[in-house]
Amino acid sequence: MKVMLLGMPGAGKGTQAQFLMDRYRIPQISTGDMLRAAIKAGTPLGNEARRYMDRGELVPDHVVIELVKQRVREADCANGYIIDGFPRTIPQARALQEADLDFDFVIEFRIDDDEVLRRLTGRRVHPPSGRTYHVVYNPPKVRGKDDVTGEDLVQRADDAEPTILRRITTYHAQTRPLVDYYVERSKRGPPRYVSIEATGPVERVRDAMFAALGGQ
Ligand code: AP5
Repeated sequence: MKVMLLGMPGAGKGTQAQFLMDRYRIPQISTGDMLRAAIKAGTPLGNEARRYMDRGELVPDHVVIELVKQRVREADCANGYIIDGFPRTIPQARALQEADLDFDFVIEFRIDDDEVLRRLTGRRVHPPSGRTYHVVYNPPKVRGKDDVTGEDLVQRADDAEPTILRRITTYHAQTRPLVDYYVERSKRGPPRYVSIEATGPVERVRDAMFAALGGQ
């Protein structure tokens, strides 16, 4: 199973990716997580990426395209993958096609701008596992601690309100055109395009997603 997740910042891509990973036993490839790992490791790529991410802007296409191409060649991707947060521009989508990386499904999660702000200001993450919580909507069992390991949860640097607003603007300008791109492509064959109303409880969104995947 090869799946691509599309949607605004905070639409729930990372949250729903966990359910897909559990069901299909395939890895999640999150370009955001990969870039944050590079920042933490202090690599030249990470230092370049940080300048853009802290401003709520997209990292240059050539940087992320190369990251994804290398990652999908790794052994754990042999049976499929979930790509979360890529492509984010039309040139990135074209690069995927040119690299012959195919997908069974493109899943779009739809929410509005106000909900993005509510979700991201309350988000807390456990960076080693990628598990994501929300102080109101999806709280951990113990405040500030990961449910599985008991380790500290953190707030992402780009979840400050001014940066969130910038990310929303960036999404509408550069990523939203991918919806039309993939809807049009799906009329000519795979990948199938699935659009999910992503407001409401996490489990309701999960059930709608699996129903749309047709029990696969
Ligand atoms: P990235 O890390 O990909 O961030 P994003 O797309 O902005 O998405 P998020 O991770 O913020 O949200 P999500 O949809 O995964 O939501 P989540 O499940 O966490 O990218 C960060 C930056 O990296 C970019 O700004 C850019 O600079 C750079 N970058 C990354 N990829 C790039 C690319 N391809 N090209 C160029 N630059 C790139 O949920 C959010 C919150 O809501 C959580 O608190 C969660 O608990 C809660 N929640 C989830 N579902 C629900 C629900 N149904 N109801 C209530 N709350 C919910």
